[in-house]
Amino acid sequence: MGITTTGSSSVLSARATALQPSLTLAIAARAKALKAEGRDICSLSAGEPDFDTPAFICEAAAKALAAGQTRYGPAAGEPALLEAIAAKLSQENGVPTQREQVLVTNGGKQALFNLFQVVLEPGDELLLPSPYWLSYPDMAELAGAAVRTIPSSAAEGFRLRPEALEAAISPASKLLVLNSPSNPTGTVLNRGELEALAAVLRRHPQLLVVCDEIYEFLVAPGHAHHSLAAVAPDLAERVFIVGGCAKGWAMTGWRIGWLAGSAAVIQAAAALQSQSTSNVCTFAQYGALAAVSGPRDSVHAMAAQFNHRRRRLGEGLLAIPGLQLQQPEGAFYAFPDVSSYGLDSMSLCNRLLDEVGLAVVPGIAFGDDRCIRLSCAAAEATIDDGLERLQRFLEAL
Ligand SMILES: Cc1ncc(COP(=O)(O)O)c(C=O)c1O
Repeated sequence: MGITTTGSSSVLSARATALQPSLTLAIAARAKALKAEGRDICSLSAGEPDFDTPAFICEAAAKALAAGQTRYGPAAGEPALLEAIAAKLSQENGVPTQREQVLVTNGGKQALFNLFQVVLEPGDELLLPSPYWLSYPDMAELAGAAVRTIPSSAAEGFRLRPEALEAAISPASKLLVLNSPSNPTGTVLNRGELEALAAVLRRHPQLLVVCDEIYEFLVAPGHAHHSLAAVAPDLAERVFIVGGCAKGWAMTGWRIGWLAGSAAVIQAAAALQSQSTSNVCTFAQYGALAAVSGPRDSVHAMAAQFNHRRRRLGEGLLAIPGLQLQQPEGAFYAFPDVSSYGLDSMSLCNRLLDEVGLAVVPGIAFGDDRCIRLSCAAAEATIDDGLERLQRFLEAL
């Protein structure tokens, strides 16, 4: 039975009515359905590594399961994992962190959701450099806040300029999102850029910052990941870090992320979690403990593969006339501007899927209708196949 309405008012709340289901998941589902019908589909739409989780991590979780780690645990996370994440942030990211400043969450997604819920309220504004990962606006709106985007284009390298940030800040601005390496553009903020942004932030002490560092390990040669809180330690009190195991350790289904920052906010986010989802799956946390506290060999091996594929995807795209590409510096996406072909990104992506069986994600989902997002989290042969289909389609337009 469908959802009924009484008069003009729906049973759904205004909040739920305003929600957009994730377009990336919708595209992936449609590509899968077409494949199931027997169509020859090439998908470059994935937002997850195509590698298996390293064996030592699976073994640690299996051991914890066998040892009876199957019960409720502390809502904020297993103490050993909190300790390990605090040590990781302190040593690997240069951000001195105590255990009380960390919350283990159901993926980076819940870390962001919890943070938005505990710091944003109606009247507040989220400052969002655009293009952006598609979940931020809906999460902000669920917290009652307005979203102010700070646009950038492929032509200017999708970089957040300090003057653009300064111009966007208003008395209502409460939280700025910095996502580096970025999904979808692959832009990595360098140390100089972070220092310049920090100088702006010092002039606006009411503004909090969340650094979404979920792709921290996936950085192209010649680039490096830096945490804002390490570059500008004087701002650390108002900087939050979101991270997780999904992308670097190929653990998307494990649902392990973290939020780190000032203890008072972490305590509020933990209280929210205790009243909503409780702790993250206990034995999965022991797999994450092995990952976070273990050697980085497998992380670096997978990152090297992504470097190779990212370059291949970038070079292939640059060889297609009429595309404008800011070479991705990290993560596993490319975000070319295809506007010279005269189609909006949704029509282009629908036609790519229908006419040449290529699944990619329309830029409109990320706030830029001129672009499409292609993923290189796929075998090289699939990347080559996708590039060939894209070129064939664009040439025939
Ligand atoms: C920029 C960004 N942040 C956060 C996430 C959430 O990751 P998780 O799977 O850990 O929830 C994603 C996942 O695609 C992402 O691309």
